[in-house]
Amino acid sequence: MDVELETERLVLRPWRESDLAPFAALCADAEVMRYFPAPLTREESKALIAQAMQKTEEDGFCFQPVEEKATGRFLGFVGLSRPAAPLPFAPCVEVGWRLAQTAWGQGFASEAARAWLRFGYETLDLEEIVSFTASQNLPSQAVMRRIGMSRDMAADFEHPLLVDGHPLRPHVLYRLSRPAWEGMHDSRM
Ligand SMILES: CC(C)(COP(=O)(O)OP(=O)(O)OC[C@H]1O[C@@H](n2cnc3c(N)ncnc32)[C@H](O)[C@@H]1OP(=O)(O)O)[C@@H](O)C(=O)NCCC(=O)NCCS
Repeated sequence: MDVELETERLVLRPWRESDLAPFAALCADAEVMRYFPAPLTREESKALIAQAMQKTEEDGFCFQPVEEKATGRFLGFVGLSRPAAPLPFAPCVEVGWRLAQTAWGQGFASEAARAWLRFGYETLDLEEIVSFTASQNLPSQAVMRRIGMSRDMAADFEHPLLVDGHPLRPHVLYRLSRPAWEGMHDSRM
């Protein structure tokens, strides 16, 4: 099932072959990957796209490209995903994002994430969407708060795929329940 969503400034569309070059470039950028263990090689970025396409086939959704309407520019990805890692709060559906530096500071991640939340609650009928990141990743936590998520202070965890003592191992969890999302939605109408 192909998901295509539209917001005021963005198209959230399926992956295309031409996305590999700009995606590999942003995943090779040390600043974009500052809160991940390492930047990615072109092959690793290619594998990530293949994995996202595979998960879209299996689950009906995954992280997808964000394209700026005004320019047609590929900005990065935002989307919903069922994390494969053995996380303490699994099973769950997360909302996640990774944009090129040139796309930061314009509200694009939040705008795309809000559309994915709507899709999650209205189309997938989910009861909860979570988001998690390294404790150090404050820009990502700011997006979580901006789109209405709340930190579950009791759910801080050590990422199971990072070795003991790794500086990025401590993680925080944010949650948004269906009633909380519906409440926000109602208050805006
Ligand atoms: C996390 C990440 C997506 C956040 O991007 P971002 O641009 O800061 O987030 P938003 O899209 O919510 O944009 C908000 C910013 O745009 C500004 N903005 C400008 N125009 C705006 C508009 N029209 N609407 C809304 N916000 C606007 C806001 O004021 C805010 O700026 P501030 O942070 O200086 O206060 C980005 O830092 C990133 O891709 N990082 C690398 C990958 C990563 O760490 N991913 C998360 C892993 S868990």
